[in-house]
Amino acid sequence: MKISCILLAGGKGTRMGHQIPKQFLSLLDRPLIDYSIEKLQHLDEVVIVCDPSWRHLLPQSFTFADPGPRRQDSVFSGLSSLKSEPDIVLIHDGARPLFSDATLNAVIDAAREFGASAPALPLSFTLKQATKERFVKKTLKRENLYEIQTPQAVRFSLLMEGYKKVHRENLEVTDDVSIVELLGHPVKLVLGNRENLKITTPIDLVVAEQLLLQHANV
Ligand code: C5P
Repeated sequence: MKISCILLAGGKGTRMGHQIPKQFLSLLDRPLIDYSIEKLQHLDEVVIVCDPSWRHLLPQSFTFADPGPRRQDSVFSGLSSLKSEPDIVLIHDGARPLFSDATLNAVIDAAREFGASAPALPLSFTLKQATKERFVKKTLKRENLYEIQTPQAVRFSLLMEGYKKVHRENLEVTDDVSIVELLGHPVKLVLGNRENLKITTPIDLVVAEQLLLQHANV
């Protein structure tokens, strides 16, 4: 079973308020993306999608691909740069340095069995739908709602079939298993790990540093 990964680092990360995209910011003296690379490097192939101007910060032994304007374009660019076809492809946000091995193994196992999988956490907060004027329209029932993380895992042939539909019908998606959903194919959710936060704002970086320090002290 051949398993490869598209590691996304092509975003500009402007919400962090830095010139440097968030995936290259320093987290305990290492570029944030290093933590993901370390946990993924044992796979058959890793393609890192990032702007050529940041590649000098990364190990040169990996395959690189250019980012596209949207996340889905960056993923497709990565898929097109794979040197050989895997059975399963993982897609991971370089801005999530703290996914666990258990999460990684769980999505791989579920993708083997069901075709597509993503790590998910039951919502720990209340979601409300609002009008444009920000008046509450409706409170959503929490019991069947999940927050979705990466790495997501999909059978390569299924993802490529999904991309054909996305391109043919000019569709927009925000994550990778959505492409599989568009085909009407089931997607299995597995339990993610709560530390697997997406570094989006400066506060996330502070939390990630504390979590890493705690792990180092265990
Ligand atoms: O912007 P957002 O945080 O949703 O991006 C998720 C991941 O996708 C990040 O790792 C970012 O670097 C990547 N991305 C990309 N190409 C884009 C947009 C985002 O590789 N055009």
